[in-house]
Amino acid sequence: MLMMPDVVYRAFESVKTNAAKVIYMTPQGNKLNQKKVEDLSKEEHLIILCGHYEGIDQRVIDKIVDEEISIGDYVLTGGEIPAMVLIDSVSRYIKGVLNNESIKEESFSNGLLEYPQYTRPEIFEGEKVPEVLLSGNHQNIKKWREEKSLEITKNKRPDLLKNKLN
Ligand SMILES: C[S@@+](CC[C@H](N)C(=O)[O-])C[C@H]1O[C@@H](n2cnc3c(N)ncnc32)[C@H](O)[C@@H]1O
Repeated sequence: MLMMPDVVYRAFESVKTNAAKVIYMTPQGNKLNQKKVEDLSKEEHLIILCGHYEGIDQRVIDKIVDEEISIGDYVLTGGEIPAMVLIDSVSRYIKGVLNNESIKEESFSNGLLEYPQYTRPEIFEGEKVPEVLLSGNHQNIKKWREEKSLEITKNKRPDLLKNKLN
């Protein structure tokens, strides 16, 4: 079963604007990453097309879609969850949604994974929050975070480091 082109086209016509960029969520698309998320957040109007069943008739995809995006190499039943992933990740870059500082230091924002985070209590099951984080010395804290960020990326996602150097 496939979504019919005329039905999809009518839905598109009812919401389109001159500034609209139309994205089709599909496992065949470019894999979503933080750079793409940030780029999309600068668009004025996004229309997100979600398939269901076997997908959508190719003729309407060819007619209205500007870009195809996948959220990973696996197949879901419909495009709604991928669309929610896109909306959530893009919204984080929209002014007023988050405190700007939160975005700057998170994983992928500078091509690395984030450093470990700690909160209260200072001692949990015998494990202490690293001393440097309690020192109040902002320069040392910054240096510790940078080192940890690099170490974690090297251990968990060495591919990111390779991309950063290229
Ligand atoms: C069952 S899938 C269709 C799969 C399609 N027949 C194929 O083999 O490429 C139904 C819909 O779910 C959405 N979808 C499924 N997996 C996705 C993914 N990894 N990324 C983005 N959208 C996905 C798409 O909108 C797709 O049209």
